[in-house]
Amino acid sequence: MSTFWSGYIALLTLGTIVALFWLIFATRKGQHDGATDKTMGHAFDGIEEYDNPLPRWWFILFIATLLFGIGYLILYPGLGNWKGMMPGYEEGWTGVNQWQREMDRADAEFGPIFAKYAAMSIEQASQDERALTMGASLYANYCAICHGSDARGSQGFPNLTDNIWRWGGEPETIKTSILNGRIGTMPGWLQVIGEPGVQNVAAYVRQDLAGLPLPEGTQSDSEAGKQIYASNCAACHGPTGTGLAALGAPDLTDSRGWIYGSSLSQLQQTIRHGRTGRMPAQEPYLGNDKVHLLAAYVYSLSQRAEQAAQQ
Ligand code: HEC
Ligand code: HEC
Repeated sequence: MSTFWSGYIALLTLGTIVALFWLIFATRKGQHDGATDKTMGHAFDGIEEYDNPLPRWWFILFIATLLFGIGYLILYPGLGNWKGMMPGYEEGWTGVNQWQREMDRADAEFGPIFAKYAAMSIEQASQDERALTMGASLYANYCAICHGSDARGSQGFPNLTDNIWRWGGEPETIKTSILNGRIGTMPGWLQVIGEPGVQNVAAYVRQDLAGLPLPEGTQSDSEAGKQIYASNCAACHGPTGTGLAALGAPDLTDSRGWIYGSSLSQLQQTIRHGRTGRMPAQEPYLGNDKVHLLAAYVYSLSQRAEQAAQQ
């Protein structure tokens, strides 16, 4: 803000406060203190207005409000470029500075704890009760919005509690997914294989790869679907459909890991127009140490699934 506008705002604000002081004292001067039965001459429905002064407590409240305003303007930035004298804020109080101060305080308190777990391997941290509790609370804050509070995902967002992975379930791979984010790009095929091609290959994926029944009366050519699959899809999803983690291309033989739906019409939609899943990189917001704990937490969820499956 230029000095002119800063001065203009300060002058206007302080001028208004001075004017209000003047107003409240000027209107009180000359008034009698006690109650009176003199009226102002107004009457409505039998209700009359007496010519009484403001009650004293009301008057004092006005003054207190004005003094509070002055105090506020000394402490907080409100007068143009004035930064305020709030103790503890060299840069002046702002919402951002307060947030930064609280983050710095939290980092000073918890940073060493995060660092301690970051020095452990992800497997080790995933066995540590305290690390998992901290990981769960980070998860609730930063991940639940997309992957669900129970981490079971939903349409478009993968389930993190099963042991089926798009990008891989090794501890370090999970960490990489969280640190750097992932973008899964499934191209659209309508232009390439036409609508009959979409229908044939969708039926092939559902019936022959995933082993799911087709709806009664579906017209499709499984042999044609197989051909289309081999020449257009196998490069990413693998010759037998088991997927390719390096590209985030999911296993098409196991519909439990699909995120865009397994009905024939959902499959057709996916193949016709493609899909792009985006997992945002967390390193810029959370940094390595917190991501390390999150990776341990996510890994522990899948390990539980693994143990449950073995029992
Ligand atoms: C360039 C690589 C590539 C090719 C070629 C490709 N896909 Fe995909 N496909 C992907 C990726 C990556 C994803 C995951 C997209 C995401 O996560 O958003 C995907 C997702 C899918 C899904 C959705 C699975 C789910 O999670 O719901 C289906 C179904 C599918 N592909 C079928 C096909 C078929 C059929 C073809 C051939 C016509 C094909 N794909 C060709 C890379 C490819
Ligand atoms: C804005 C939504 C969003 C948020 C927030 C988000 N994710 Fe994701 N995440 C996704 C999507 C979408 C994918 C799937 C990407 C793809 O299509 O391959 C994904 C994928 C993943 C994967 C890889 C799964 C696999 O099968 O390989 C992991 C691990 C993961 N997320 C963990 C996390 C963690 C931990 C957090 C919290 C720090 C988080 N995500 C926050 C949307 C999100």
